[in-house]
Amino acid sequence: MNKLTVRDLDVREKRILVRVDFNVPLQEHGDHFHVGDDTRIREALPTINYLREHGAKTILMSHLGRPKGQRVEKYSLRPVGGHLHGLLDHPVLFSHDIIGEIPEKIIASMGAGDVVLLENLRFQPEEEANDPVFARALAGLGDLYVNDAFGTAHRAHASTAGITKFVSKSAMGFLMEKELKYLHEELDRPAKPFVVIMGGAKVSDKIDVLKALMKKADAILIGGAMANTFFQAQGVPVGKSKVESDKLDLARDLVETARTSNVRLLLPVDVRETQEIKAGATVRNTTRLSPQSGVADGWLAVDIGSATESLFQEEIGKAKTILWNGPMGIFEIPEFSHGTFAIAKAMAESDGVTVVGGGDSVTAVEQAGLADKMTFISTGGGASLELLEGKELPGVAALTDKD
Ligand code: 3PG
Repeated sequence: MNKLTVRDLDVREKRILVRVDFNVPLQEHGDHFHVGDDTRIREALPTINYLREHGAKTILMSHLGRPKGQRVEKYSLRPVGGHLHGLLDHPVLFSHDIIGEIPEKIIASMGAGDVVLLENLRFQPEEEANDPVFARALAGLGDLYVNDAFGTAHRAHASTAGITKFVSKSAMGFLMEKELKYLHEELDRPAKPFVVIMGGAKVSDKIDVLKALMKKADAILIGGAMANTFFQAQGVPVGKSKVESDKLDLARDLVETARTSNVRLLLPVDVRETQEIKAGATVRNTTRLSPQSGVADGWLAVDIGSATESLFQEEIGKAKTILWNGPMGIFEIPEFSHGTFAIAKAMAESDGVTVVGGGDSVTAVEQAGLADKMTFISTGGGASLELLEGKELPGVAALTDKD
């Protein structure tokens, strides 16, 4: 990636605008909110600490949720500022206004090493509209710009793209650099065999990424509800499982593309089925799936089965690079979580490069207590998928090229 990084900037005594992705879950406690999972905040610390240690004045900007251009109190970043204060063990100033006199005054009062967090950028409709007047006003608060918001790099918004036109230099932060190293460079020329595990609800969400990965992967293992659409396309009974019945041709097309690309596309050979999606429900393993024997009438698939677990574990065990995106079942319910956790465990035991590509599979790996056993876990959901699809991320493209 031929872009400037924060190391290339002279930041001492400068006001550094840093776009971070602090779009984190907030939990309501009485009349105030607490940060739930703070992974995204902790992952931004290397850049923030570097700037503080190098005498910069750090101006943090983020969005939280989708308040649609309105000031919505439950999406305020104020609790995130409080949480960051604890992590940094240094006060984090907070600006209730995003642009204008209030943040200008706060920033003018800051010394080297100080940090301010601006209120949720999406309280202003101009942020998502990538409005140039707003982008210029944001840029005017600082001297140089750093984008460390990998999770938002697929959005061309004022704070991720537009702003770069109004600052002399724009660089990536350490998190952005790390995400691109693993999801882009490492997976561009993966050590072989390269095995991809894809799960989640809908095949329609994953078409482009599956097609792109078929150019590189040796095997693609499919799980989660998206497997049902493949089953139905092959005439395997699915009971009352969730199926995208308008995507059957697409599923057949993907099977065909895999065949012509010499990629082994492995579907579950058995599943775990239940009659109702609730904790404590009865779950049973089907026999081997075929057009003659599938999910029973009135039952639905909620997880991969035990034979599939063994098959997938064997593939993972042989791989030198493994990418995982999307759970194998409804893992939020303990009875349906076995297959998802089996994948997490197999990845944790692998000697290869293990990359968890954002979203629910990250939660699963964390719940399994195996996060520190993975080579890399992405903080991006949509951004990591778009990158894996081979798309250019606007938030990266807009940064200053290295000479
Ligand atoms: C995310 O959580 O994926 C990012 O913060 C982007 O959020 P968005 O999908 O609302 O743009």
